[in-house]
Amino acid sequence: MHILLLHGPNLNLIGTREPDMYGSMTQEELVNQVRQKAQSYGMQLTFLQTNHEGVLIDTLQQTTADAVIFNPAAYSHTSVAIMDAIRAISVPVIEVHLSDISTRERYRQFSYIKDVSVASFMGNHLQSYLDALQYIKENLT
Ligand code: DQA
Repeated sequence: MHILLLHGPNLNLIGTREPDMYGSMTQEELVNQVRQKAQSYGMQLTFLQTNHEGVLIDTLQQTTADAVIFNPAAYSHTSVAIMDAIRAISVPVIEVHLSDISTRERYRQFSYIKDVSVASFMGNHLQSYLDALQYIKENLT
């Protein structure tokens, strides 16, 4: 099984970006941990981070993965275009967030991605991603 881990804008800066909110783990460390867990489940993981909405859409349209673990970052709260892209593909998407967006500023509480995802995990930093993998293992394999 092939998993695409997709990261939206500013997630390349985690580790130093608002560590009280997003933790002190760098993106590279986080991806390594997720990859290790995926491998322990016999899954192969591909990773992409981009700050560009169109690149996220192109990647979703072109993916050959069996499932996508997606942290769209701030685009979660703004992008009808990414929502439409997810609706247009048949690959299941699992939404993840490091922080708990449901308890943060009002403008972060709504996610366009939630309704088009098969599941959402948030608020537990790395564990949100590991929960997404566990969900895939239990429900999509
Ligand atoms: C985030 C939450 C978003 O509101 C924010 O814009 C991010 C990160 C998270 O993982 O907690 O960049 O997606």
